[in-house]
Amino acid sequence: MSGNLGFENTDTILSENRIFAPPSDAIENANITAYMKSKGFDDYEAFYKWSLENRFEFWEDMAKGLHWFEPWQKTFEWTDKPFFQWFVGGKFNIVYNCLDRHMQTPVRNKVAFYWEGDEGETRTITYEQLYTMTNQLAKGLQNLGVKKGDRVAIYMPAIPEQVVALLAVARLGAVHTVIFGGFAASALSDRINDAQAKVVITADGNYRGGKLIQLKHITDEALQDTPTIEKAVVVRRLGIDVSMQEGRDIYYDELLKDIPEDTIVPCEPMDSEDLLYILYTSGSTGRPKGVVHVQGGYGVGVYTTTKFVFDIKDDDVYWCTADIGWVTGHSYIVYGPLMNGVTSVMFESTPTYPAPDRLWSIVERFKVTTIYTSPTAIRGLMRFGEEWPAKHDLSSLRLLGTVGEPINPEAWMWYRKNIGRNELPIMDTWWQTETGMILISPTIRQPLKPGSATRPMPTIEADVVDKNGVSVGSDKGGFLVVRHPWPSQMRTIYGDPERYKTYWETIPDVYFAGDAATIDKEGYLRIQGRVDDVIKVSGHRLGSMEIESSLVSHPAIAEAAAIGKPDPVKGEHVKVFVILRNGFEPSEELVKEIKLHVRTTVGALAVPDELEFAPSLPKTRSGKIMRRVIRAKELGQEVGDTSTLDA
Ligand code: PRX
Repeated sequence: MSGNLGFENTDTILSENRIFAPPSDAIENANITAYMKSKGFDDYEAFYKWSLENRFEFWEDMAKGLHWFEPWQKTFEWTDKPFFQWFVGGKFNIVYNCLDRHMQTPVRNKVAFYWEGDEGETRTITYEQLYTMTNQLAKGLQNLGVKKGDRVAIYMPAIPEQVVALLAVARLGAVHTVIFGGFAASALSDRINDAQAKVVITADGNYRGGKLIQLKHITDEALQDTPTIEKAVVVRRLGIDVSMQEGRDIYYDELLKDIPEDTIVPCEPMDSEDLLYILYTSGSTGRPKGVVHVQGGYGVGVYTTTKFVFDIKDDDVYWCTADIGWVTGHSYIVYGPLMNGVTSVMFESTPTYPAPDRLWSIVERFKVTTIYTSPTAIRGLMRFGEEWPAKHDLSSLRLLGTVGEPINPEAWMWYRKNIGRNELPIMDTWWQTETGMILISPTIRQPLKPGSATRPMPTIEADVVDKNGVSVGSDKGGFLVVRHPWPSQMRTIYGDPERYKTYWETIPDVYFAGDAATIDKEGYLRIQGRVDDVIKVSGHRLGSMEIESSLVSHPAIAEAAAIGKPDPVKGEHVKVFVILRNGFEPSEELVKEIKLHVRTTVGALAVPDELEFAPSLPKTRSGKIMRRVIRAKELGQEVGDTSTLDA
């Protein structure tokens, strides 16, 4: 079991500062308070209990805050378990809710994104401009033959055109699949092939932290092996020379050049349950899974949680530092903030480039009110010292957030003290690619405990259970599960419904999250880490098998095992054990070559920090490598049940 191990002082911090009282009325969450009051509640716990019994009323109320071309006939249907539907029969387009409906309100002239590039260049995009850009690209894509249901791959840097790409695709009723710009060519082609994408949108290249990323070059390599791709659209982010294949490749600006600015491509009215996107994420096998999200329910879930967790106000400048290549970017850079008409910051670079005060300098310059970042970013910046945030006026901030991995109490305290002036609440939000929206998080009203994501969101019936599904009770470890579907939950795994079923069958009739957790007497949850072969490196999700398949594709390697080890900054890092083929000898050179091989086949994020040449690996009698045993030995822990070990 991986997780929040190896951090110092955790127990002291927990006992000394166990509870932070609710903050003052000045930061009272207006959105959730107003809703609670409308239902006659003052107290969150009583309201939460009500929401479990009235979940459909709650979600209907939330859905009514959005625009539907035609109302739904049935709120929820679960006849073909574990498959379910929300807002059955409704006609909806998430992009209409992100853009079109704001064109009749003052949001039209509001800034949608303050964008800052790697070298500090800036752009300001209003909602109206975003609407124009989206319509133009939608027309351009239509001209390339993209229509409802087609899949479009997006492999781009963090520039406004990336947001426009998602919106234009969804506007047409096509399905986007975004691939993180840090993935290598074969990871890109695997995802394109699984989704059978027809078009890919990319850029010539970009700089990140001063380092050139040759996106078009990598795309060219990937497209040698992607029979379904007909067209590649290329944004000139840098204006560098790249090869353009006649008949296949077209520059973004050339695609749009004859399309008038006032072009309107109406939003395709989609069925609530029609696909919005596929997002690939790692699981226990070598093949990443295409998590499927749909238009209606996903829209409602993400709209609601953005409002409640981040307590959205009209004059907010909200900043989620994630990348759109991950689910956090889909839900809380693109769809959630835009549906709520909020002004956001979008950032192309890294927290330490050119110096470790980049984030704080942006907060000061754009007067950011809400920052949502990762524990890894905080731990990484902690190392540089308190003087870096101290250089900046951070008084515009009123709310902090984290996501992606457990936050150790030391990092939580540092964040609150140095960024939150010892008073700002921290929303530690637990969720997953599969859940689509935040499921466990404070909503400002609750007392906070460092290192705890606190309580479930309204209607979310989260519990900690043993392997038979029985609640373990307070302060005992178990598996995190959720007992009833919520609107933005994934609907299936693309092309692999059997794999989807395992989420509801590992423990019968509940959603099995794959995390270990504890629950305390007040019902506060502490998520400890994955119980499967998923490794969380800097909050990025990797599968042991993905790394191992890359390793064994190297000519020197016969067998390999990859595990996650606790890391003081990254949460976990990758350690691999390899058995060499006959005729190969361990050497420093070979270590370098193997690391490079992982970098060029999977991507930089999967490169192991540690590599050990091993004479043998523990296996079951049927030949399966026992990573659990390797990991326990590596961490000096009890090895546990080894009855299946091949002695
Ligand atoms: O282990 C949990 C961890 O991230 C996993 C989901 O990863 P992914 O699908 O990449 O989505 C990340 C962004 C939503 C979870 O199974 N995780 C996420 N948030 C937290 C967390 N662990 C502890 N605390 C969190 N707040």
